[in-house]
Amino acid sequence: MLFEALQYLFTPCPADVRALGHLSGLISLGSRHRRCRRAWAPHLDKSRALFLDAARACRRRRTLLVAGSGLLLDVPLEELAGLFERVILCDVLHLPGVRRRARRLPGVELDCRDLTDLGPRLLAELRAGRSPDLSVPAPEHFLDRQDLDLVVSANLLSQLPLPLLGFLARNHPDLEPEALERLAREIVEAHLAWLGRFHCRVCLVTDMERLKVRGGTILESEDPLFGAALPAPERAWDWDMAPRPELWPDADARHRVHGWLDFRAG
Ligand SMILES: C[S@@+](CC[C@H](N)C(=O)[O-])C[C@H]1O[C@@H](n2cnc3c(N)ncnc32)[C@H](O)[C@@H]1O
Repeated sequence: MLFEALQYLFTPCPADVRALGHLSGLISLGSRHRRCRRAWAPHLDKSRALFLDAARACRRRRTLLVAGSGLLLDVPLEELAGLFERVILCDVLHLPGVRRRARRLPGVELDCRDLTDLGPRLLAELRAGRSPDLSVPAPEHFLDRQDLDLVVSANLLSQLPLPLLGFLARNHPDLEPEALERLAREIVEAHLAWLGRFHCRVCLVTDMERLKVRGGTILESEDPLFGAALPAPERAWDWDMAPRPELWPDADARHRVHGWLDFRAG
């Protein structure tokens, strides 16, 4: 706890990114990974293998964009940098450890941006005292780049709505749950539509179902994509995301994960 608090205080981070909860999200991701390292290993290995297989399947290997590169837990950066001329790591924030790892590799660039375009708008509305506009824009990021040969969406899709839902719950507690659910689904759909607009290969990994399990019994199931529909996956596996007692003393959190080597082909 103390380590996380100090990390939160001393990590360089733009005030808006902090206010939207992204810094605390990345710090929590790192802490949970340290606590659940062994349980996460098979999921991270499968994600890395999918990204490498997608990379090796590309005939041209100029630029690779990794959307949601985060802490690079599931991104085999050194291998990917050896395959492509340029790798762009894109996330809303890059922590110092990621910056150091990227600096060691020629051809690796860091790009910080909000891939939903919504965070900065919601903050501006809050500061202006306006009620939030919950319409979801169609992201245009990187669509004008002609040199992309692979786009990877790295365990990002289901995470996109969460900081914004948290921000709205903190600042506009009067919003209807139905409006928030609709917003979350539209954010997921906008990311999928964005991926569909690239002309190169697109590789996607996302969790599709969140389960609370005890032994062989499913106690609860949740749709992390808020009803957004996806085609049949090319690969599927389980991620033991929070073995007991991480979330509950007597139950485990398990995520069903789907992966596509070539999402647009589906
Ligand atoms: C589950 S983590 C992905 C982990 C990452 N692939 C890794 O291996 O560490 C989800 C990532 O989505 C990023 N993220 C969440 N909302 C975002 C947004 N609006 N724009 C860009 N990145 C975002 C988070 O910062 C986080 O790094």
